Amino acid sequence: MSTATLPDTSDNQAAESRWAVETHGLTKRFGENVAMNGVELLVPRGCAFGYLGPNGAGKTTLIRVLLGLTHADAGTMSLLGFPVPRHRDLALARVGAIVDEPRFHGHLSGRENLQILAAAREPEARDRIESALERVGMLYRADDRVSKYSMGMRQRLGVAACLIGDPELLILDEPMNGLDPAGMAEMRDMIVSLVAEGRTVVLSSHLLDEVERTCDAVAIVDRGKVIRQGPISELLAGASLALQVECSEPDRARSLLEGSTIGAHIEVGPLGLGITLPAGTAREVIAEINRILVEGGIAVYRLQEIQASLESWFLQVTSRLGAPE
Ligand SMILES: Nc1ncnc2c1ncn2[C@@H]1O[C@H](COP(=O)(O)OP(=O)(O)O)[C@@H](O)[C@H]1O
Ligand SMILES: [Mg+2]
Repeated sequence: MSTATLPDTSDNQAAESRWAVETHGLTKRFGENVAMNGVELLVPRGCAFGYLGPNGAGKTTLIRVLLGLTHADAGTMSLLGFPVPRHRDLALARVGAIVDEPRFHGHLSGRENLQILAAAREPEARDRIESALERVGMLYRADDRVSKYSMGMRQRLGVAACLIGDPELLILDEPMNGLDPAGMAEMRDMIVSLVAEGRTVVLSSHLLDEVERTCDAVAIVDRGKVIRQGPISELLAGASLALQVECSEPDRARSLLEGSTIGAHIEVGPLGLGITLPAGTAREVIAEINRILVEGGIAVYRLQEIQASLESWFLQVTSRLGAPE
């Protein structure tokens, strides 16, 4: 397609954009309350991206602003390279979203609900209903009233409703909410398979564990601000290093290490020494710890590096998680 046929270059920009979601300085106030405070977000295409933060952090607000359901007070944003709200229609034709909980007509069947939604879309949407129902494992309940569905079934029908638009980007607000462990596992598998098809999935969540298990990259949001973002593996590389040491004379072992030049935080616990080293500590320091102990006459039975979890990392960057609102 030549650029001359386009009203402007937005379609070309969209094709070239690396980012499924891009925001700069996005701000939203409710009276005195700043729900979103200069959000800078870059979501790469083709990944599962977690927007992670405690309740009230401003996750739903971001999603509502992205979808044009409410306006931002300041900042700029684009979806799949289309600046919104300027090209909202072009962008949203390629986006499927579930905000808060998926809402359906309870007295109609799952299939009828999708037919209503498809009627408001391009003609192809109707042809995708059966495959979408099959895709989310709801074909067998498609003729039952939605009012009889469990929360997990509603969530799955919500994803089916997204899929009838064949979206490049899915935005799911707390998709694990209200699901039992089996339902969560199904949702997780579904998200992973959507990404495997080349789609981008952005999900908001306050569940660290789910984000860690489902997503490739994450943004941590707290009090309306994105504190950190990036691939989970890279963020964890910036976490402090934790060691567990099982040894004789743990109290004397601690004194030996505290008297050395190793800048470690050391606790004596039931399993031996718990040693925390600052982010970026060279692995040679682990060997050095072993040497100091052995030369000090301490018997070292076990020295193990503890894998940093997203949770421990998250707790390092914000201590507010789980605190009452
Ligand atoms: N429509 C609204 N009117 C007033 N305040 C709101 C509204 N929506 C959200 N808020 C406030 O904005 C903040 C962020 O809310 P929300 O985006 O729902 O957080 P999250 O989805 O992360 O739990 C909260 O303090 C919430 O009370
Ligand atoms: Mg929310």
